[in-house]
Amino acid sequence: MLEVTNLTTDFLNGKQRIRAVDGVSFEVHTNEVLGLVGESGSGKSVTALSAMNLLSGNATVSGSVRWNGADVLTMSPAAHRQFLGRDVGMIFQNPLASLNPVFTIGSQLIETIVLHQRVPVAQARAVAVELLTKVKIPDALERLDDYPHQFSLGMCQRIMIALTLAMKPRLIIADEPTASLDVTIQAQVLALLNGLRDDYQLSILLISHDLGIIAQFCDRILIMYLGRIVESGTPHQIFKAPAHPYTQALISAIPVPDPDRRSRPAVISGDIPSPAHLPTGCRFHPRCPMVTNACRITDPALELVTDGHSVACIRAREWM
Ligand SMILES: Nc1ncnc2c1ncn2[C@@H]1O[C@H](COP(=O)(O)OP(=O)(O)OP(=O)(O)O)[C@@H](O)[C@H]1O
Ligand SMILES: [Mg+2]
Repeated sequence: MLEVTNLTTDFLNGKQRIRAVDGVSFEVHTNEVLGLVGESGSGKSVTALSAMNLLSGNATVSGSVRWNGADVLTMSPAAHRQFLGRDVGMIFQNPLASLNPVFTIGSQLIETIVLHQRVPVAQARAVAVELLTKVKIPDALERLDDYPHQFSLGMCQRIMIALTLAMKPRLIIADEPTASLDVTIQAQVLALLNGLRDDYQLSILLISHDLGIIAQFCDRILIMYLGRIVESGTPHQIFKAPAHPYTQALISAIPVPDPDRRSRPAVISGDIPSPAHLPTGCRFHPRCPMVTNACRITDPALELVTDGHSVACIRAREWM
């Protein structure tokens, strides 16, 4: 449904060119939740914004992004507006920034439903109650006249999801949708999103820096490092046989409840380098515990290791 091929994004900062996304390819199929995971600064948001053709100014985007055949990067402004307004819904980290504090949630929902579903107000009210119920807001009918500040943050995020669903999108891009919520609420919101895809025949691109939290809600996962996809596969493949040392490090960084251990040792040493100063060879080599001399020279391509499981590491076959 969404087919991204060789997506590359450069930012021009003064005289300096920064390649934030470097030849990224992936597909999001109908009714699928695809997870995009990587540390802060790895290029997840830029990938999503580039694929939606939402960057401008100092950004240059190349490659191709096909949405049911149409190229998102070259479509006319009118077609692009329609694509964004009708086909794609976006959910961001801070629900309060997206809800208008001076209008009741009912009026915001009803306005969106009338606009996108072309139904009269009375009917839109019923649809609003239905949507709020769907996202598990208790006493939906009574709460239509409440303002955003009368809801908890987790509820606001679910109201945001209802508002996005009111647009009847085919694809939802959720960029760190639960980062501002505590862990149990995060899981509830992600489970909710995951559950909605069948009811609404949705495709979902779920972005997070937290592999542990989103893995259970995805059909497939892409692991991103410094603008590249370094591994992709099903959650089962990724967790049972992580082939990239970066993925292995992300997995071992997932906290396990252990009363005897106060804090976990830092598993990935060092910070992610800036894309303005990319390492030679494999971009992960300066932080990789398995580094060899060849890794400093060879830039590994993403290669299939088993059906549906790809990795970009010259040593991957040694531990698979
Ligand atoms: N407008 C811009 N101009 C220059 N560089 C940018 C711009 N936007 C992003 N970048 C750079 O691109 C890289 C990728 O940023 P991006 O926001 O995609 O990371 P991310 O993976 O979404 O991180 P986070 O988990 O913190 O949201 C970063 O090095 C960032 O500094
Ligand atoms: Mg981001």
